[in-house]
Amino acid sequence: MDSTDSRSPRWRQPKRQPKRRSKQQSDGKLRRRLRSGLALAIGLLATGGLYTMLVPQPQVVTAQDTVLAEGRRLYNNSCISCHGENLQGVQDRGPSLIGVGEAAVYFQVSTGRMPLARQEAQAVRKPPPPEFDPDTVRGERNLLALGAYVQAHGGGPELPQRSGTELVGQDTARGGLLFRLNCASCHNFTGRGGALTSGKYAPILRTATPDQLYAAMLTGPQAMPAFGDRQLTPKEKEDIIAYVLEVRGQRNTPGGFNIGELGPTTEGVVAWLLGVVALVGITAWLGARA
Ligand code: HEC
Ligand code: HEC
Repeated sequence: MDSTDSRSPRWRQPKRQPKRRSKQQSDGKLRRRLRSGLALAIGLLATGGLYTMLVPQPQVVTAQDTVLAEGRRLYNNSCISCHGENLQGVQDRGPSLIGVGEAAVYFQVSTGRMPLARQEAQAVRKPPPPEFDPDTVRGERNLLALGAYVQAHGGGPELPQRSGTELVGQDTARGGLLFRLNCASCHNFTGRGGALTSGKYAPILRTATPDQLYAAMLTGPQAMPAFGDRQLTPKEKEDIIAYVLEVRGQRNTPGGFNIGELGPTTEGVVAWLLGVVALVGITAWLGARA
């Protein structure tokens, strides 16, 4: 008993010691604990956030896989004979498609140029096969799948996020200026097109949709130069599209009757001749009355 009594305090001493600590000390400890707990929580949250940001959702991967598989099927059906099993191209039939990008596929296939039926100086615009008609839901989906499949082989110019009327800019005047600087040398001032060398020609821009206009600028088919975003910013491309739609009368023509859209010189001459005829007529009429 005695021994236990005398031992007990000594034995207990270390255990008691924490209780003897001042309030300040235990507050500090609580704060430290809270702080490390908070740091841990933040760390966990950050890791979780980073993880979800960096690791794509499993469903997205599967959807993308399905799209690629669909694109591959379409490619094997319609394009493989000329562009090769691995898009490397086939001698005397078709060029490599590695790195041409989904925008080139969209342009070539939605304008009916591809799949090519027969070799000529230049693939011509024709109605696309129904499975690639951009005006149908199925055609649009197939075009995007085929584009994704080609995009997966070496990248290349991508289609813009926006589409349709969203691609029509606001500043038609600036579009006109940019068109005269960059496009008129081949396509004429109002997009009527024109002949180039060796059986090639710049087509009339009467039927191309905003998406096709955009994709043509991005990819530069055949003899046409490509206009990357550094040559023409997306906004500038959209203003050019607005101008093209305007001159072909899909927007109102603010100047009134457009006299065949032949350009300012012809329009000036026609206006002048009409004016002179009218003046002469009025003079003659006044003279006859006098
Ligand atoms: C009968 C052969 C043939 C078939 C089939 C064909 N192509 Fe082509 N393709 C060509 C030739 C030849 C060219 C180059 C000449 C030209 O652009 O007019 C070309 C050019 C292209 C270009 C432009 C390449 C570049 O460098 O800008 C793309 C994109 C393209 N083809 C995609 C396709 C797709 C997609 C299909 C299937 C839907 C397809 N082609 C089917 C022969 C073919
Ligand atoms: C050096 C001449 C040249 C210049 C400059 C040029 N293009 Fe072209 N463009 C062509 C040729 C050639 C084609 C036909 C390519 C083909 O059929 O594969 C074409 C095709 C197009 C098409 C497809 C038309 C259709 O109906 O399918 C569009 C749209 C187009 N160009 C827009 C433009 C715009 C916009 C500019 C200015 C930013 C421009 N082009 C500058 C030569 C040119």
